Amino acid sequence: MTERYARLTGWGRYVPEKRLTNVDLEKMVETSDEWITQRTGIKERRIRGEKDTNTSMAVAAGQEALKVAGISAQDLDFIIVCTSSPDYLLPSAGSLVQDALGADCGAVQVTAGCSGWVYGAVMADALIRAGVHNAILVIGVEIVSYGIDYTDRKTCVLFGDAAAATVFQASDQPSGILASELGSDGAKAQALWVPGGGSAWPISPEVVEQRQHYIQMDGPEVFKFASRVVGSSLKRTIAQAGLLPEDIDLFIPHQANARIIEAGARFMRQPIEKFYMNLQYYGNTSAASVPLALVEAIEEGRLKDGCKVAMVAFGAGLTWGSVVIQMGVGEVSPAHVLFSAGRARYLAKRARETVLDTAQAAWCPFIPGLIRGGVPSAVRFALKILIKHLCAT
Ligand code: ACO
Repeated sequence: MTERYARLTGWGRYVPEKRLTNVDLEKMVETSDEWITQRTGIKERRIRGEKDTNTSMAVAAGQEALKVAGISAQDLDFIIVCTSSPDYLLPSAGSLVQDALGADCGAVQVTAGCSGWVYGAVMADALIRAGVHNAILVIGVEIVSYGIDYTDRKTCVLFGDAAAATVFQASDQPSGILASELGSDGAKAQALWVPGGGSAWPISPEVVEQRQHYIQMDGPEVFKFASRVVGSSLKRTIAQAGLLPEDIDLFIPHQANARIIEAGARFMRQPIEKFYMNLQYYGNTSAASVPLALVEAIEEGRLKDGCKVAMVAFGAGLTWGSVVIQMGVGEVSPAHVLFSAGRARYLAKRARETVLDTAQAAWCPFIPGLIRGGVPSAVRFALKILIKHLCAT
């Protein structure tokens, strides 16, 4: 029997329009853009709009991924929706997405905190390699904002909402997941949890009054765990794939905190430029974080056919997971070209927003500069601020 591989053939994303910036948060809790940027690297995050649901966001990302793969929902054999923020406790997010997509296959929800998508991808790989299924959609989707206490500055600055989807299909060409590791340390469950609202402590006025239906997090404890596990798990999985860190073209870590990613890069003795980061735009989008970074890295042209990418995630549980994937993007459908054009439009929009923000930042000091030293000094001062702002963004 020829060996089967789970090839990555499709990818897509959905991020809500609404942006919550560090400056917005300064008005909500006692924090500052400077503190958030220095301690986390995050500048803004997306928050779901009125019409966005866990299902609608998952479906939008899933449809894009199916178009890139060049298959329809009817061609899917299985759907794995990775989330900790489903629309309902019952039924599973998987069934809702299966119905909304018009697919005719099994579907399941995987909950492993921010490690969710890595867990889902490893399961899809195993099902395809074993010959059980041929085409599996794996979606990471979160509306984390619903579980955030926006009076708690320790958590509310970190998280955002997003969805990202991937299609894995059976192939006889060596590609897809080369090696993986999944881990869990439930002894540290209370470092990151929602104590109230489950069957252990059902929702009640007392739970709500004590704000125990919101995410509670021991930030430094999670930080220590994450800084250790990012590098060590990556190292083990890369070795299991028979590779060295130098053989990896791009590292895609969970987008929780730039300092955790930097610690991982130091541990791996790899340049930080090889570690993809988009957390400045989205914050920590939990199970959507790693696939969202993967989709953006592909669309930015950082992952070509044959490239090896190592991904690692960590989160509530405490869980972690890492995978090494060999890209096989040579056979993508023409739809990918269309979606790349959409991505170019998005990047142009983001550049326009940066220019406008920068202009605003330069305009504010221009007026006092004008009053103090006339037009030349005001222009000089504004230019200085402009350059500083552009370097920071
Ligand atoms: N603004 C200003 N000050 C703040 C803020 C804030 N938003 N948050 C905390 N502080 C204060 C604290 O109150 C504390 O003040 P004190 O010294 O007077 O008591 C001080 O800053 C230092 O607080 P620490 O918590 O020690 O700060 P730290 O450097 O550890 O950074 C952070 C906190 C960013 C949360 C960090 O611990 C972290 O990133 N941890 C990992 C969290 C994470 O990744 N969680 C997601 C896991 S994935 C999942 O499954 C959801």
